[in-house]
Amino acid sequence: MSKKALITGITGQDGAYLAKFLVEKDYQVYGAVRRSASLNLARLAALDVAEHVTFINYDANELSNIMRVLEQTQPDEIYNLAAQSFVQASFEQPLYTAQISGVGTMRLLEAMRTLKMQARFYQASTSEMFGHVRETPQTEMTPFYPRSPYGVAKLFAHWSVVNYREAFNMHASSGILFNHESPLRGMEFVTRKITSQLAKLACGDEGVLELGNLDAQRDWGYAPDYVKAMWLMMQQDQPDDYVIATGQTHSVRAFLEQAAKVMGFELVWEGEGLKERGLDRQSGRLLVKINPDFFRPAEVDILIGDASKATKKLGWQPEMSFEALVTCMAEADLKRAQEGARWF
Ligand code: NAP
Ligand code: GDD
Repeated sequence: MSKKALITGITGQDGAYLAKFLVEKDYQVYGAVRRSASLNLARLAALDVAEHVTFINYDANELSNIMRVLEQTQPDEIYNLAAQSFVQASFEQPLYTAQISGVGTMRLLEAMRTLKMQARFYQASTSEMFGHVRETPQTEMTPFYPRSPYGVAKLFAHWSVVNYREAFNMHASSGILFNHESPLRGMEFVTRKITSQLAKLACGDEGVLELGNLDAQRDWGYAPDYVKAMWLMMQQDQPDDYVIATGQTHSVRAFLEQAAKVMGFELVWEGEGLKERGLDRQSGRLLVKINPDFFRPAEVDILIGDASKATKKLGWQPEMSFEALVTCMAEADLKRAQEGARWF
């Protein structure tokens, strides 16, 4: 008999790739979605997986709703991906972020405990918890120092998982995932903002790409590689926490320069600080300028993860390089811009 998986946050980037991965493994997949005026199934549709998912209304904010969803679906594995996941927005909506991305996880754990559910549980923890990093590279043993309300909320969720595992013997694991991207990434995150807007500029749009801190560095991987790690954690006899990362870091500027190259531009820089501008070498056209609105009140300057525990215990390793990732995102958005396709 096929296993049953419940995915919260199934309409997001990771939810879509995970749903596809599990459907291909013959799971019966339940997609927990929050009610909205127009349900966004675009990512699931792009992967041709929407029709294989049974959807059920779920809000991370409401305990009784969560309990009913668990009772109705009786899952073997629960993947808790639902979150207000945009760091910048968390500075504007810190309490909401705490409720959804932090307490929302404890609500789900508490519902499982109350119903005495034996399901295995995966929590979408994050490298944002390392924040103002205490050591490099970051491992499962590195102390946390979050730098945003989102990071603080996720740290609450992370420790809730550890605590419920230890206190109630739950099979609850936490994946400390470093940034992972794809052509299905939300357009507000910097990688997709760069590839989507540059693609429009390459196809005749006359605007300028406005960005914040170009010198922040991230350990960027490919989302489909990362959802495989989630599943591997759920297949272990013992629950545990794992860092999932590529072990390499690159600046926003490096991502931008490479994406520009794929679009047929060559970026050259002039000016400094807020006056810095990026121009196309050949045409002299202004492509990039700095907008202070996109700086964070507190920044995470650099992240780089050490996934050797996951490699050793799960047999996991990233399969896509940084260069291939940038190219695949840039080419996908260039194609969308050329075809006038719907953006999501
Ligand atoms: P995403 O694209 O922003 O998706 C977030 C999902 O959460 C969406 O399906 C969203 O639904 C849902 N959601 C938001 N509020 C909800 C609520 N109140 N009740 C139920 N569902 C709600 O995020 P992602 O990039 O796929 O990331 C998945 C998870 O991994 C998130 O928890 C994120 O914090 C974490 N994470 C991501 C990364 C990364 O680099 N991508 C790294 C580490 C950890 P709507 O479609 O209705 O908005
Ligand atoms: N979004 C955005 N927009 N970021 C910008 C911009 C801009 O215009 N300009 C510069 N940046 C910088 C940010 O200051 C940050 O240092 C870096 O680009 C990456 O920003 P995001 O792509 O928004 O991602 P994030 O690292 O803050 O958070 C993502 O990764 C976390 C894992 O470390 C999200 O997916 C989180 O949900 C996830 O937990």
